[in-house]
Amino acid sequence: MTDEMLQDVAARWNGNADQWTHDVRQGYDTYREIFTFPAFVDFLPPLAGLDVIDFGCGEGTNTRRFAQMGARMTGIDLSERMIGHARAAEEAHPLGIAYKVASYSTDTGFPDASFDAVVSTMALMDGPDFGAAMREAYRLVRPGGFLAFSVLHPCFITPGLAWQKNEAGLATALCVSRYFDRTSFTEEWRFGSRPADEEIRPFAVPRFPRTLSDYLNAIIAAGFRISRIGEPQPDAEAGKTPRFARWRDLAAFLLLVMAERP
Ligand SMILES: C[S@@+](CC[C@H](N)C(=O)[O-])C[C@H]1O[C@@H](n2cnc3c(N)ncnc32)[C@H](O)[C@@H]1O
Repeated sequence: MTDEMLQDVAARWNGNADQWTHDVRQGYDTYREIFTFPAFVDFLPPLAGLDVIDFGCGEGTNTRRFAQMGARMTGIDLSERMIGHARAAEEAHPLGIAYKVASYSTDTGFPDASFDAVVSTMALMDGPDFGAAMREAYRLVRPGGFLAFSVLHPCFITPGLAWQKNEAGLATALCVSRYFDRTSFTEEWRFGSRPADEEIRPFAVPRFPRTLSDYLNAIIAAGFRISRIGEPQPDAEAGKTPRFARWRDLAAFLLLVMAERP
């Protein structure tokens, strides 16, 4: 990993930050609202009373929700602009959250063993050097503490992903390809539930594909003991819409990992 790579990721997310913050806070990120965040909360042990750091906290919506669950939260993100939005929300409605501009894959500057838990939602596939992120997480967590994160499922959201569709345009299968291609790339997309007639610049999201064994072996190599893996499906209600039915019936969208520091 080079400084240049991190600077490029930071620049991309600084460029996404204003639109992202607006859209997330308007509720346009329906995957988060009805699937990914509830699934992550179901997977988590109680956070009340714990010192928790959120790796790649973005504009802080989820960090604020963890604080509302009773955790004493710290959020770090590479993007100054994301952290600016997170701090503005904290100033407007204080929940006692401390934010810092820092990379989760370098020394974040906090003392060893200063947190009960590291959490991260949909951010660790967006940065280079997952191994370094796991070593930093291990350093920050107290013995007996845990790491819990969500990422796009690496076995299904592969660089060559394509849906097979029937005549009605409904997905009938997911074609996985280029699973082993670890070349980083920038993906352009917008939240699907945004009003279609609104002209916006799509997000430019740097992605760092890795395989399932890349993820799991890096967690183990850092010293953690993996205690649980989750591959949640959208619930029956969400599954009534085709966008979520695909991830209920055909393939896994999310990979959740829980690991403990012995
Ligand atoms: C998809 S957003 C998710 C943000 C937030 N966790 C959420 O769920 O809304 C990914 C975030 O990861 C951050 N990020 C990427 N690489 C990072 C790194 N090396 N260290 C810290 N944050 C990073 C980006 O700046 C961006 O804010």
